[in-house]
Amino acid sequence: MFTEKMEKAFNEQIKWELYSAYLYLSMAAYFDSLNLPGFSKWMKAQAVEETMHAMKFYNFINERGGKVDLEAIDKPPTEWESPLAVMEYALNHEKEVTRRINNLMELAQQEKDHASQIFLQWFITEQVEEEDSFGSIVAQMRLVKDSPEALFMIDRELASRNIDFTGLTQEVQ
Ligand code: FEO
Repeated sequence: MFTEKMEKAFNEQIKWELYSAYLYLSMAAYFDSLNLPGFSKWMKAQAVEETMHAMKFYNFINERGGKVDLEAIDKPPTEWESPLAVMEYALNHEKEVTRRINNLMELAQQEKDHASQIFLQWFITEQVEEEDSFGSIVAQMRLVKDSPEALFMIDRELASRNIDFTGLTQEVQ
């Protein structure tokens, strides 16, 4: 059974996923202002992915007979000290998202809501990937410290990430 508590918590998570999209778009704008198009493209791709995550929750709430209730999204930060500071901020943000997904799983267990537990398993796996991808970039950047040449190379590497709309398209059909 999809309880009111679960519905409220899932609606709250829609807000978090959309805030994540907003945050990453703000980071993309910061990178654009520094003329780092690869970092910017990577963040835009991430923002699309976060919107897809929000839509997964949106669809699941509807499928369970609940009601989607959108909440206000906070303004994200717009300035950081350095590109490294941005990626560290993003990594910490993903850790917070992981904590929230784990809390949702615990709630679904308490509510004996098996369908929600199965649904949330996808997000638990996804969060491992998310922390790993942000963590790898942070590790690389810490290694090269303030070298502009290395930053330029990382920027070129990040530019190879495609903005993949497939998942989002599937969720909005
Ligand atoms: Fe939707 Fe990056 O977590």
